[in-house]
This record gives sequence, structure tokens and C-alpha cells, in this order.
Amino acid sequence: MTEAILLVGGKGTRLRPLTVNTPKPMVPAAGVPFLAHQLARARAAGVDHVVMATSYLAEVFEPYFGDGSQLGLHLEYVTEKEPLGTGGAIRNVASRLHSAADAPVLIFNGDILTGLDIGALVDTHTRTGADVSLHLTRVADPRAYGLVPTDDSGRVTAFLEKPQTPEEIVTDQINAGAYVFNRSVIDTIPAGRPVSVERETFPGLLSDGAHLQGMVDSTYWLDLGTPEAFVRGSADLVLGRAPSPAVPGRCGDQLVLATAQVAPDAKLTGGTVVGAGATVGAGARVDGSTVLDDAVIAPGADVRDSLIGAGARIGAGTLLDGAVVGDGAVVGEHNELREGIRVWCGARIPAGAVRFSSDQ
Ligand code: GTP
Repeated sequence: MTEAILLVGGKGTRLRPLTVNTPKPMVPAAGVPFLAHQLARARAAGVDHVVMATSYLAEVFEPYFGDGSQLGLHLEYVTEKEPLGTGGAIRNVASRLHSAADAPVLIFNGDILTGLDIGALVDTHTRTGADVSLHLTRVADPRAYGLVPTDDSGRVTAFLEKPQTPEEIVTDQINAGAYVFNRSVIDTIPAGRPVSVERETFPGLLSDGAHLQGMVDSTYWLDLGTPEAFVRGSADLVLGRAPSPAVPGRCGDQLVLATAQVAPDAKLTGGTVVGAGATVGAGARVDGSTVLDDAVIAPGADVRDSLIGAGARIGAGTLLDGAVVGDGAVVGEHNELREGIRVWCGARIPAGAVRFSSDQ
């Protein structure tokens, strides 16, 4: 087991405006592009060759990760002419794989933060003789996900679209976005057109009688597709709740990158990360938040569970709670922004312009 495909070509629409200038896997989490955590975990599990399936903003990956030698990996990049979806992207990189027809190939969605035991997934695959094996995780509220019920032996019995009624919630197991495919199965995916692995490939294989094996692993798992989840994931990496060998520093309440400037009486808590060249002013409080490079948090600002884009400026006395501020945006002083608000890249909010409560 040495090869993996990483799916990193999605538009990341749910994460906008963070994904306006940066593809989702390159948005920094705990101080490095999120992808760096996944690559480090794959390397630690014994993977040595990774093919990146790129599409949206494809040009930014290679300048950062190069040939992968610094990570102890051999990295290759394949860019789709048109987005091919998850299955089409897998098929499109097949020619770069070196594995034999019956050898297992790992495939990862590029936006999942997890403590999955990758080796155990491959072992399950080999032991059961499956054609495809899937990491499954249990979630408290499965309504937003496709469900993957299994029989007593862990064999997948169905792929069910998002359940609409309580009767349709037949399991709390969902597709967690990491797979092992026999190389020969990858070659059966149709080439040259968009294919969804979740909606087309998996149900098709099942109805053709293929053996799909599920492995429930209930370790840390988070889909970083939304701003709330991304901020949570970054904070969990800093706090050490989510495992990654790529966190650039010791885990704890805060992570301040080398060239950041934080006032001595500013309070950084809850897994907050302050990026390179960023500034946090006197008396400011930043809790559970991600402050990207060169951003400025003015004195007395109060920032909670929020993501501040590169070069953005947050004015003095402004409160942010569950907010996303795009790259280069300016939020003037004494604003109050809450509850999933998204300020677009480069936007300007004047001083005292937005409140969610009375100013008295
Ligand atoms: P949303 O637009 O917010 O749903 O995000 P997304 O575009 O990333 O889609 P989704 O989360 O469903 O994608 C799952 C994984 O597949 C992510 O790692 C994506 O980068 C990747 N992906 C989705 N579509 C494509 C595609 O057309 N080509 C490639 N190469 N990867 C894709």
C-alpha cells in the first residue's frame, strides 16, 4: 500500500468567500494549508505516492507543495479540463498510478479532518477481499448526509440519499470521505465525463454485485465544508483534539506564527491561531478563531469562533461571533457581526454600521 489519490478540485461553494481566492484544501487551518495535515497523515500511514486531482484554482497547489520531497512524498498533479466530479476525477488520474490491478489504492476527499486509522482501513479491505472499502462515521443527526447501512459483517447493503422522513433514517452511519479501491475498479469508471462517486459509482457497483465493505471508525471526524466547521477544525488542531503531525508548533490554547504581533494584554484562547504578519491589538480577545496572514485585529476587538481572511482589518471595539470576513475586507470600529454572517473579500463596513443588538 503506497499510493493515494487526493480529491482537491471542488469549488468549495459552501465556504465562500474564503474560497474566492483560495481553493478549500489550501485555506490555512492551524497555520498551514489544510492539505498539509492530510498529506502528513497519509505519509505517517506509509503512503509515498500521492496524485492530486485538481480543477478549481488548480495552479496554486504545485508552487506550494512542489514534488513533495520535503514531505517525504512523491507528489503529482493532474488538472481536469472541465470539472469531472469526484468519480470522474479519480478516473482521470488512473494513468498516473503504479499499482497492480488487484492492489489497493487510497482515495481521500480533500476537506475531511479525521483521526482515521488509515492502516486499519487498508487491512479491513485486504482481509475481507472487498472491491471497495469505505470509512464510515456515526453522526448524531444524519439528515444532511447520504446514509450507508451495513450488514453484520460490515458489508454495505445500500447507499441512501439524504433522508427526508424519520422512517428513512435507517442508520447513523455516513460516508466519511476516505476509500480504498482496488486499482482495477478505478479503471471501470467511465472516462471523459463528470461522474459522482457517491451518487453513481458506489450505487452502480452495489447493484452489479460488487463487494463494498464499510469500516466504522468513530475517532475524530469533521467535514470542513462550511465556515463553522472550518473554524472548529482549525481550533481542534491547535488544541490537539484533532491529530496532525503538521501543526507548526506545540498544541495548546493558541498558536501564534513567528512573524505575528500580539499585544501583551491581548487574550488568545480556545485554539485560536494568528497567522504570519498578523497583528492583535491591546486588550483584544480572540477565542476559537482563525486569523489569517497579515490580518489586523484592532485594540479592544472581541472575536469569537470566526475566521478572519488574509489582510482583513477588524476595527477597535468590534464584536465578531460566528463570522467570516473575506480577504482584505475592512470592518470598521464598533460593529457587531454575528451568526454566520459572511463579509465578502475587499468589502468595507463603516464604523458603527451593523449591529445585532441595541447600542444602549
Ligand atoms: P461545495 O461546493 O461547498 O459542496 O464543496 P466542494 O466543491 O469541495 O464539493 P464536495 O465537498 O462535495 O467535494 C468533496 C471532495 O471532492 C472535495 O475534496 C472536493 O475538492 C472534491 N471535488 C469535488 N468536485 C470535484 C471535481 O469536479 N474535481 C476534482 N478534482 N475534485 C472534486
